[in-house]
Amino acid sequence: MENRKPVTGVAVITGGAAGIGEAIARRLAADNFVVVIADLDRNGAEEIATEISAHGGEAVGRHVDVSAADSVSALFEWLTDDLGRCDVLVNNAGIATTAPVSELPLERWNSTIAVNLTGALLMTQHALPLMKKGDRGRIVNISSIEEIAAAVSFLCSEDASYITGHTIPVDGGYLAAGVLEI
Ligand SMILES: NC(=O)c1ccc[n+]([C@@H]2O[C@H](COP(=O)([O-])OP(=O)(O)OC[C@H]3O[C@@H](n4cnc5c(N)ncnc54)[C@H](O)[C@@H]3O)[C@@H](O)[C@H]2O)c1
Repeated sequence: MENRKPVTGVAVITGGAAGIGEAIARRLAADNFVVVIADLDRNGAEEIATEISAHGGEAVGRHVDVSAADSVSALFEWLTDDLGRCDVLVNNAGIATTAPVSELPLERWNSTIAVNLTGALLMTQHALPLMKKGDRGRIVNISSIEEIAAAVSFLCSEDASYITGHTIPVDGGYLAAGVLEI
């Protein structure tokens, strides 16, 4: 991480201990954000944060269950006390439920909604007051397939400061191919 830019703020990435969230955490650390990796997997989050720090970035791993209001409150209490700001929130934590609709157990449906939707709501509700106190705020909700760290980096940059409320398909043409087949 040579030629680092000035610190651009604090970025919270849920589900940042693995997969897409981990890639986003590494990318935003390289963009010089102080990265908070917030994940159900506390050890995984701390390991990624340690790796990022070893390569010159600033990162901390924290436990959160985004589907639990108390857990999200505890994360933001710590964030407010220790870092005092939240400039970027990436709602990435999610669980995939694949089953035919007719066979989908209600408890799996409910847990998926709790993490993927309620989790994003709770995190957003807690992040907004901190963002309002600061001079900027970006919320990126993830539901894409792969290779989206660069798109998130762009959306969190000054170059995207006039972009609001858009859905960007980052799927290697998967969606467009489906549309063309209709
Ligand atoms: N990978 C894909 O093909 C794909 C496709 C469509 C959508 N997505 C979405 O992209 C996002 C990331 O997917 P991924 O493939 O990197 O997933 P992943 O399973 O590799 O990682 C998800 C991370 O979220 C964490 N997590 C799960 N439940 C949590 C909770 N309640 N609170 C906090 N953290 C929690 C996990 O511990 C894990 O570290 C998800 O929202 C997923 O639904 C992924």
